[in-house]
Amino acid sequence: MKPETPRPIRLKDYRPPAYLVDKVDLDVSLDPTCTRVRSRLSVRPNPAASGRSGPLRLNGEHLELAEIAVNRKPLAKKDYKVTDVELTIARPPAKPFTLEIVTFVNPEGNTALQGIYRSNGVYCSQCEAEGFRRITYFPDRPDVLATYKVRIEADPEEAPVLLSNGNPVERGTIKGGKRHYAVWHDPHPKPSYLFALVGGDLASIASTFRTMSGRKVDLAIYVEHGKEDRAAWAMDSLKRAMRWDEERFGREYDLDVFNIVAVSDFNMGAMENKGLNIFNDRLVLASPETATDTIFEHIESVVAHEYFHNWTGNRITCRDWFQLCLKEGLTVFRDQEFTGDERSKTVQRIIDVRKLKTHQFAEDAGPLSHPVRPESYIEINNFYTATVYEKGAEVVRMIEKLLGAETFRKGMDLYFARHDGEAATVEQFIQCFEDASGIDLTQFRLWYSQSGTPELVCGLKYDKAKKTAELEVEQVLPPTPGQPNKKPFHIPFKIGLLGANGHDIDLQLEDGEEVTDGLLSLTKRRQTFRFTDVPSRPVPSLLRDFSAPVNVTIDLDDPDYELLMAADSDLFNRWQAAATYATRTLVEIVRILGSGKSTARGQRYAKALRAAVSSDGLDPAYRAELLRLPTQADVARIIGKNVDPALIHRAHKQLSRLVGRTLGDVLEDFYKSLADKGTFSPDSESAGRRALRNSALTLLTARGGKRDLALLSKHYSGATCMTDRAHALYLLAGIGGKEGDRALQHFYDQWKGDHVVIDTWFAAQAQSPRASTLKRVEDLTRHPLFSLTAPNKVRALIGSFAAGNPVQFNRPDGKGYAFVASQVLALDAINPQIAARMLGTFRSWRALESGRRAQARKALQRIAKTKTLSPDVKEIVSKMLEA
Ligand code: PHE
Ligand code: ZN
Repeated sequence: MKPETPRPIRLKDYRPPAYLVDKVDLDVSLDPTCTRVRSRLSVRPNPAASGRSGPLRLNGEHLELAEIAVNRKPLAKKDYKVTDVELTIARPPAKPFTLEIVTFVNPEGNTALQGIYRSNGVYCSQCEAEGFRRITYFPDRPDVLATYKVRIEADPEEAPVLLSNGNPVERGTIKGGKRHYAVWHDPHPKPSYLFALVGGDLASIASTFRTMSGRKVDLAIYVEHGKEDRAAWAMDSLKRAMRWDEERFGREYDLDVFNIVAVSDFNMGAMENKGLNIFNDRLVLASPETATDTIFEHIESVVAHEYFHNWTGNRITCRDWFQLCLKEGLTVFRDQEFTGDERSKTVQRIIDVRKLKTHQFAEDAGPLSHPVRPESYIEINNFYTATVYEKGAEVVRMIEKLLGAETFRKGMDLYFARHDGEAATVEQFIQCFEDASGIDLTQFRLWYSQSGTPELVCGLKYDKAKKTAELEVEQVLPPTPGQPNKKPFHIPFKIGLLGANGHDIDLQLEDGEEVTDGLLSLTKRRQTFRFTDVPSRPVPSLLRDFSAPVNVTIDLDDPDYELLMAADSDLFNRWQAAATYATRTLVEIVRILGSGKSTARGQRYAKALRAAVSSDGLDPAYRAELLRLPTQADVARIIGKNVDPALIHRAHKQLSRLVGRTLGDVLEDFYKSLADKGTFSPDSESAGRRALRNSALTLLTARGGKRDLALLSKHYSGATCMTDRAHALYLLAGIGGKEGDRALQHFYDQWKGDHVVIDTWFAAQAQSPRASTLKRVEDLTRHPLFSLTAPNKVRALIGSFAAGNPVQFNRPDGKGYAFVASQVLALDAINPQIAARMLGTFRSWRALESGRRAQARKALQRIAKTKTLSPDVKEIVSKMLEA
């Protein structure tokens, strides 16, 4: 018998809801294993559903139904039907009515962390995407918008703090002080996925914000007792984000309070529940001793991201989950812009592009490739992906490029004005930009429906006699699952031509069309641009500022890259030239090593890097980016097929050593001159200095000399902040030996009592390329501080091994795959969402050489054969194995 496969949900089957809910009244009585939820809904047939109201179907899962009444009259058993996933009332009233339902849920037993659960004793909720149905029966879809009034009741000792969305209304004590309650009201209609509640014994820090129209907002961040001082940076970030959204987008906050709560167990980074954001505590808590600069930066951007959702996601939400990028892509775009404004624009662009390529390009090149707006899904939780988020942000950025900043802002204003209070679609979003600009974006819409990374195959011909340069561009659109043939995209392609001295040549098109800011517009499969008055053979600087999420290939020589690295006026592309040059050098070394020969290649690249990183007038943070070699995964992606991760690892080591040697004096100079003086500050300038110093240290230690190792050990033991300490720990764990073990032991002793910081200890060991790592990771799964029920632990240990340790995960004996597969299966019974994510680390398995590919297939088949898989894991594993 074939096991039952859940039916895919399709975009084209969208129908408006048959019934609307205008008001939700919830009364939640918190109890560890038996929480009672009383819900009173004001329901009415949806006039837009063209009179076909019929039965009322409510979603509901893992619920115990106790009572149900319509217009205060209990329903007879025959009037409704309950299954594992829904409750149906066959003949509800044709006029508006109230529906009262009482359900019971078990927070303590909830390991999936969707619905109401407990984390470290704190009651909290997670409803996106479909968690509200684990709290009560409800039309749990984003196009049903209601106002919520929520009463929460609890034991005052267990949960002195009681929070929900909106503004506080009332609180009090009952039952002679044995219980207490709080009432919250959210006046803004919202979909059920934005509902949240929290009950727990938490400490908090408070502040206020004065909005642009002069309203005062009370801000609070709730954390574990004793961690209050670690919440200051998140608070500071929040206030800067609130101000920025007013200044940059004219968006003002709309409630009297804004609360953030940090919890330890959370499936994702954070959640934008209206007025009550819930965060993974690793993205709230930071002090110089406990958090790296990267974490500080991450906190800043996620706090901003969740806050920005208040307008892009909450005030204007999504009609259905296919429109997820409407809120996520747009909000990532907004948080990236924020960080760029707060820090360095160029460095931020480099970081974002690096992330896009590592995660999204890899996803798009494998079996999990899907469009920014998918057309079907089985489990929506599987679509919180790099494609929806990061590529979704790039698509918004391309609109800005095509329209110009000012017109883009007009389009955003129109979007806010036109769709405030609505559940919108991608079409409606694009329409606003068409209306604001008069530009036809019909072809541009393909970015939402066609998957895969376009490749721009370019060629440049120079005619010395005519002084013309011809740039040919062909869009090569690789086939992706379900999409064998594709139409050409509308692509903003920003370019420059460098003269022999490295200066930009004025771009003059032969047909007289003007080129503003180097921006060409690609719309056809093949296009040629003829530039006139080009005095000498130019070197092309293509895709400046990464104007579109595409790959560019062009046949350039080493000296061309060297010129771009030294002189490109576009600093992003200067970095890109260095990265491309490094990658092609690495690919070449891999090829030579693969043929059994040895090579000393890389000298030219190293010399060019030396010159580039020593150029005048560059920020330390930017220099640090130049010094960061492409990752092994990046090289694997470029190689694309028959990948041998062990060879890539060797090549990477070899080039790192060569760079360390060639740049030795420069690196030592950075290391010595940039040491922190005075007290730690997380600002971007200080962070940039530390980043450069640590980048230098990485390359210096790659030389592998005694003195280098001594320097590294001293860096560890003398570290005065977590940035330096953690950086050294990763390097030492990678080297191993006595020094490595001593550092790991020291770190463990110091931080074993801190559940956030200790994750660095797990991750550093999981990422070590040493042959003993798998054994160590297996042992660590039995460590008392490890737990499969804590997503952060799973990500730190298993995630770091599978996604951050290419050489050991991809052991030729297949034991790395087998281990991760076993963990996925164990996790699936606990938390399917996290299990599916861990399984995603296999996404590039088809690109491996045949031996490893066979081993990976075996591991995946073992998962696929397992009987009781969740829909989450089942969907991913079947995609992975589809031909
Ligand atoms: N919507 C959250 C964000 O991006 C992510 C999230 C999705 C959190 C699903 C929890 C569950 O900001
Ligand atoms: Zn988001």
